[in-house]
Amino acid sequence: MSPQPQAAVGAPLSRVDGRLKVTGQARYAAEHDVKGTVHAVIIDASIGRGRITAIDSRKAEAQPGVLRVIHHGNAPRLPYKENKASNNPPGTRLQVFQDDMVRFHGQPVAVVIATTLEAAQHAASLVDVEYDAEQPTTELDKGKPDKPTTYARGDVDAGLRKADVRLDLTYRLARNHHNAMEPHATVAHWTGNKLTVWDKTQWIVGTQTELSTVFDLPLTSVRVISPFVGGGFGSGLRCWPHTVVAALAARVTRRPVKLVLNRKQQYFATGFRPEYEYRLRLGSDRRGRLTAMAHDMDHETSSYETFTEGILDPGRMLYSTPNVSQAYRTVPLDVNTPIWMRGPGPATASYVIESALDELADRLGLDPIELRRRNEPDEDESSGLPWSTRRLRECYTMGAREFGWDRRSKKPRSRREGDWLIGMGMAAGVYHTARMPAEARVRLDADGTAVVETAASDMGPGTYTSQTQVAADALGLTIRTVTLKLGDSLYPQTPPHGGSMTMASVGSAVLDGCNKVRHQAVKLAVEDENSPLYGVNADDVVVRSGRLHVQGNPARGETYRQLLARNDRTHLDANGSYAGAPGTERHSLHAYNATFAEVAVDATLGLVRVRRVLGVYDAGRIISPKLAESQAFGGMVGGIGQALLEHTVTDHRDGRIVNANLADYLVPVNADVPDLKAIYLDGEDREADPLGVKGLGEVVMVGVAPAIANAVFNATGRRVRQLPINAEALL
Ligand code: MOS
Repeated sequence: MSPQPQAAVGAPLSRVDGRLKVTGQARYAAEHDVKGTVHAVIIDASIGRGRITAIDSRKAEAQPGVLRVIHHGNAPRLPYKENKASNNPPGTRLQVFQDDMVRFHGQPVAVVIATTLEAAQHAASLVDVEYDAEQPTTELDKGKPDKPTTYARGDVDAGLRKADVRLDLTYRLARNHHNAMEPHATVAHWTGNKLTVWDKTQWIVGTQTELSTVFDLPLTSVRVISPFVGGGFGSGLRCWPHTVVAALAARVTRRPVKLVLNRKQQYFATGFRPEYEYRLRLGSDRRGRLTAMAHDMDHETSSYETFTEGILDPGRMLYSTPNVSQAYRTVPLDVNTPIWMRGPGPATASYVIESALDELADRLGLDPIELRRRNEPDEDESSGLPWSTRRLRECYTMGAREFGWDRRSKKPRSRREGDWLIGMGMAAGVYHTARMPAEARVRLDADGTAVVETAASDMGPGTYTSQTQVAADALGLTIRTVTLKLGDSLYPQTPPHGGSMTMASVGSAVLDGCNKVRHQAVKLAVEDENSPLYGVNADDVVVRSGRLHVQGNPARGETYRQLLARNDRTHLDANGSYAGAPGTERHSLHAYNATFAEVAVDATLGLVRVRRVLGVYDAGRIISPKLAESQAFGGMVGGIGQALLEHTVTDHRDGRIVNANLADYLVPVNADVPDLKAIYLDGEDREADPLGVKGLGEVVMVGVAPAIANAVFNATGRRVRQLPINAEALL
């Protein structure tokens, strides 16, 4: 087949669903209405650990409009079959209302269902729950760590011994919450033994399998619909207990039930980025060549599930290091289970490694970029595999030039503007390129328009738009004549909308399906005696704006419409698929960045203001430059939050989260976000996937926090080995 012209891919298009979003026509989970819908409000445990000894719901049930109060004392026993095709971590998932145990502060202990939301809320306040409370353990230092996951290459002790410079640094990273704009919500509706849910989820298929195993239903009896997701950052990567509560409430009351978590409930109902303690010991020779790195990582998990994340990669492959050891421990606490949050793993590891490298550079009197260049590995030293593409050196060069790195003052605390100390910092970022099996269905109609269906979500990166771009080029159609349909389990299956793998995985399936349909059309034409393309070699036919023609001879051809009409075809269709990553990789695949930040720190008040951030990305091919820029800006904003603001605070006396709201849990607002700039290196990664993309969503956040932390050091001469870097830490 001749290569298709690329008209849509690479064009800086606005979102195809932008109009729906700004006019309020895009419907989010809680905005779906089924006739007769009633409202559910969850009652959360007010103790951090213990047992429920009594629940008195009589006053609540006497209220007008109240249909039912469900709790462990009256809830039906649910099958909760094992779910192997899920993101549930090892352990036993929380089974709602199945026993009297309280495992964390905020655990659902009852649900009130009423005909109006107000009636349900009021009734919930009238339910009396009595507890036998125990002292919860919620402090990382006080928990008993699980057996570590370990890794070693070379001899770390020997490597540290022979080092000319040794650093032994311990970093604390606060717990962070996703805080997407849209609250988690579910509308659940049973028809007979079939369940339909409109749910906020980043994984349609995952929520479908979870509900089917909880209620022991055939997969086909559960339909999950989620056409729009108002931000996720990872919080929607598994099906959480509240979704089961909604389905259970709907089954018991035989009514469609709407359940919306309030802002406070998002803090204990849907996971978080775990708090970490991360010790890094490293050694280098006098010239800055690393001799050893020893990583010791502890983070919280719940008492009932062991959540882990891919934190080990950067420490093994980002820099050439002959001797590496890693010990990664989870610490079970009386908390709800964490989950991945943007850049999960590397956003933590890179903060530590990149901060430590900055200390090393300072100690050696080396430029931080030069130090990184001296440790640039020729291959992935953890696997011995060659890089597919790794263009960090170019990221450094371009970033340094664009940012004006040569204006950075080498001596910390030496640049001042009035009350403000000014500093510049940089860091590298990395995130592995993941791909998983995906499918898509493509139909080209006789009117020359096409519909593509796939069960992927779009939590905001612009999946509707970027997939439309891929489909339009592969079909030879304009953007306007292609309709993407997402977010329904009736559509072909896709992997989780996370881990930066949607473009590679779903995009490759869409590409495959569209190529198949185009091939069918071309074959039909060249074998049709009445077609102007009759007898032409199929490889010489291209399609542009819905018209098939001989490559290099646009005059000879016809439109899809003409072709299909003459052949009495209502449509052509095909199923596209992508197998995902091969069983054994032959290359080490990662996306990279170099991130630069400039900060101003008030010398007396300790306030940090980010003045500029620049990211230069090696992320493979960029399908949708305008949306890619938005992704990068979002990652930078997330990184500013991680660096300076975000911190979930727990009252360890009873496990209560004390800042479970957007007034006290600080996220960056416009005034915190300065001049941002994103540059993507041109190119593609041919080893990664048919589209040549390496993934964007995660890598754009990795590296931002350490660049800011390093800039704070350059401004103030103070090393703060904690996130967030708050004003107190700088006083
Ligand atoms: Mo992202 S943490 O994979 O939603």
